[in-house]
Amino acid sequence: MPARSLDQIVSLSKRRGFVFPGSAAYGGLGSFWDYGPLGAELMRNVKDAWWKAMTWDRDDIEGVDCAILMNRKVWQHSGHEATFSDPLVDNKTTKKRYRADHLLEAQPDAVLEKLFLLYHKSQIETGKYTKEQALEWYPTREAKLALIRQAFCAAKDRFGIYNDLKVIDPATGAPGDWTAPRSFNLMFQTHVGPVEAAPGTEEELASRVYLRPETAQGIFMNFKNVLDSSRRKLPFGIAQIGKAFRNEITPGNFTFRTREFEQMELEFFIKPPQFLREGEKTDEQWHAEWVDARYRWWISLGIDTSRLRKRAQDKSELAHYAKATTDLEYLFPGSLGWGEVEGVANRTDFDLSAHSREVPEADLKRLKLEANKDSVTTLDYFDTEAKARYIPWVIEPSAGATRAALTFLCEAYHEEMVKEPPQAEIEALKTEIDAVIKNADKKKKDAEKEKDPAQRKHDPVAISAFQAALAEAASRLPASLMEIDTMLEDHAGAQNLEPVKKLKPKVNKLAEDCVRVVLKLHPKLAPVKVAVFPLARNKPELVDIAQRVSRELRHFCKAIYDDSAGIGKLYRRQDEIGTPLCVTVDHQTLEDNMVTVRDRDTMDQVRISLEQLPHEIRRRLQLH
Ligand code: GLY
Repeated sequence: MPARSLDQIVSLSKRRGFVFPGSAAYGGLGSFWDYGPLGAELMRNVKDAWWKAMTWDRDDIEGVDCAILMNRKVWQHSGHEATFSDPLVDNKTTKKRYRADHLLEAQPDAVLEKLFLLYHKSQIETGKYTKEQALEWYPTREAKLALIRQAFCAAKDRFGIYNDLKVIDPATGAPGDWTAPRSFNLMFQTHVGPVEAAPGTEEELASRVYLRPETAQGIFMNFKNVLDSSRRKLPFGIAQIGKAFRNEITPGNFTFRTREFEQMELEFFIKPPQFLREGEKTDEQWHAEWVDARYRWWISLGIDTSRLRKRAQDKSELAHYAKATTDLEYLFPGSLGWGEVEGVANRTDFDLSAHSREVPEADLKRLKLEANKDSVTTLDYFDTEAKARYIPWVIEPSAGATRAALTFLCEAYHEEMVKEPPQAEIEALKTEIDAVIKNADKKKKDAEKEKDPAQRKHDPVAISAFQAALAEAASRLPASLMEIDTMLEDHAGAQNLEPVKKLKPKVNKLAEDCVRVVLKLHPKLAPVKVAVFPLARNKPELVDIAQRVSRELRHFCKAIYDDSAGIGKLYRRQDEIGTPLCVTVDHQTLEDNMVTVRDRDTMDQVRISLEQLPHEIRRRLQLH
């Protein structure tokens, strides 16, 4: 079974060096993360897999790598300066800030229904239709939500609705004291050159730039360059991988939503509907084809179909440039649930037209765009068969590399009971856990007696959460051994509790003896492909061969040598980081020139000759 909770991934990431909090020496910086040695390899592998699928495996896509900073006019004409914003609301009591749509999504059904009926109030009151009819037309929670999102997310003019209808603050479960929703632009601003002018002045605006919120615009800017230099004909695509930045209101869920992230975007240029010849695919057909192709990519790298779905966005969710978008969603563990991992949008000719000086009046009207007097070019295409110039349409599959890495980690994470822990030890553990929970009650009461929260040694809310989680996990022992091990180490409510410190080494030992954590990553994604060990590190002849083997394997893949522990522990360490194959050099190698190759998933071991080894490793890793 893949990860049950994001905490398992957070803990593994920290323990083994996939992801660390950024700026940690200074207490971190809201949701910025650094990728450690294994995380950097994983990210590179994810991006390589995407790049290869796009630009190597097909012959209709070129790659580019554009500057992060672009002329501000790009973001004015793309619509981002005016519309790339999220509505945010604050609870004045708890000081919690939410994206209005996320707050609405978190409401219980009763509040949702009140908001829904408020939307229909005047029609129901004037007898246009009945309450029952309205409820029948929008039978599901999803359908009601889609409507409510549209009506109430940016309801500046309806100040007070959130308070009148007692919209709940998910942090407390009680109605909040809400501010009216207001728009918050998501682009980070900076300036080119040394500028000290006040915001909004001519001088400030002239030097203002934004950290790109999507890589796509760099591609649109280069449409003509690529078209002319590569002599492409429609349909063809331009792919790019690169950093993007969004000043999210509510980042979180580890690396799921971060303010700095990496995108993998393809803009696939196609003929507009009116220029299609018989048998050529329409924009809708291309859109469906890309949704399927991208779905297959995720599956080909190990995502199970039961945890990947296609979901067409509702009209209220569509970005300002999109005619239609289908999201690929992954079922993340725990409360995160279904979350977007890729969006495939039909952007029509919105962007290329927006950046063009000359666009037919009718098209501008259709796209609700103004003529662009700032642009010095027209991003069009000459169709030699139709003998016509036009602005191509675009289908855009857009995935987050950062989020993809998290997705693959969640899918790959497995805990396997390799040895049944003795019943007596489990019973003893349960008794100790009960004692820990009771003792925590005392600490909680002591903390509550202290009126000044800043002076409290413990956080009562965190302790309660820890007690509940620990009790629940204890009821699932021995299956939850590893989970309890992680919880004792990382849970905020477990900090500074003396009995926890005593319990930790016992749980840790039992978990290490009985549970195998294994990342079943696709070999293409695994940070390390092969680990080579000598059976005994004090035998120079074994060490020599093992080091030589790892050097040879490094010619074509990431191979490491390790002799820092016993063989059992070395295998476990590699399982935990997803290394598909381990090679062991033992005494018999000296006689028969053969080594043991162990498979991560099945734990099967086979003997292979040193001569055959590189070929066999390549075959098993599917590297050729
Ligand atoms: N280019 C689409 C997005 O960034 O969401």
